Amino acid sequence: MTIELGTGSIDRTAGSTSATHSSLSGKVGLVTGGARGLGLEICRQLAERGAHVIVAARDVAKAEAAAKGLRGAGLTASSLKLNVTSVSDRKAAYDAIESTHGRLDILINNAGILLDSVDGGTPADPPPSGALPSTVRETFEANFFAPVFLTQTLLPLLRRAQAARVVNVSSIRGSLTHLSDPSSPVYPVRALGYDTSKAALNAFTILLAEELRGTPIKINAIHPGWLRTSMGGGRANMSAEEGAAIAVQYASLGEDGPTGGFFFGDERLPW
Ligand SMILES: NC(=O)c1ccc[n+]([C@@H]2O[C@H](COP(=O)([O-])OP(=O)(O)OC[C@H]3O[C@@H](n4cnc5c(N)ncnc54)[C@H](OP(=O)(O)O)[C@@H]3O)[C@@H](O)[C@H]2O)c1
Repeated sequence: MTIELGTGSIDRTAGSTSATHSSLSGKVGLVTGGARGLGLEICRQLAERGAHVIVAARDVAKAEAAAKGLRGAGLTASSLKLNVTSVSDRKAAYDAIESTHGRLDILINNAGILLDSVDGGTPADPPPSGALPSTVRETFEANFFAPVFLTQTLLPLLRRAQAARVVNVSSIRGSLTHLSDPSSPVYPVRALGYDTSKAALNAFTILLAEELRGTPIKINAIHPGWLRTSMGGGRANMSAEEGAAIAVQYASLGEDGPTGGFFFGDERLPW
């Protein structure tokens, strides 16, 4: 079983956010890995807040089944085939959104993989010195290169929105502060590929937010918590619903909200 640690008792730095939140009515939002787990729940909550949600998944039948379920609940949703590691899928996603909506208000980079497995919170995989190159490369493809290149591809559509929001679903395991702190709950859970790919995603969040400062676009990284999904396992201490609420919180930030930060709920996490 694989687990992803994240607790409500982590040591957080000061600097909580009390930003206002804008209505999602009429907004167009794309969620990668949206057909199951945390992604599906983010789709549901965005749609419940009034957004047209584009459920993106590498298996378009699963994406459409999820979108159909949301529509059956009276919500507004469509589906899109998007393997985030595929250049042609990313380009096709741009074309499809451009022709249907002409802009993108919300991008949630949620799709991710955890190949390095740990069991029961103890390191069960090779130490960093023995990590398999194939594992590290594959993890970086999905968790870092894909969200970076997808965001680049969709940026022209995000710029056309009135005030776009990008949420990078990261992990507390990408925090260098926590990785190097023996008192952190995530300190014993180490996986070279996963942890460093999320740290790199955090760095991308900082760099892009700086580039876009002065525009209405805000981009933040979040830790959704340790969730009862197939990645998080059944012993996790939070539901997908609770994790999704954090993503939606940063997707609906008002003008006074932060950009270039790393958050768990209202709390600012250390890099
Ligand atoms: N669960 C936790 O405790 C936890 C904690 C911190 C952060 N996170 C992060 O939260 C995000 C969602 O995690 P989860 O718990 O929902 O995991 P999950 O249950 O394993 O779901 C992963 C999702 O990512 C999708 N995905 C993987 N590779 C993809 C690709 N190449 N193209 C498109 N979609 C792809 C999967 O789609 P398929 O159905 O096609 O496989 C699935 O929808 C991840 O970024 C994860 O790192 C999770």
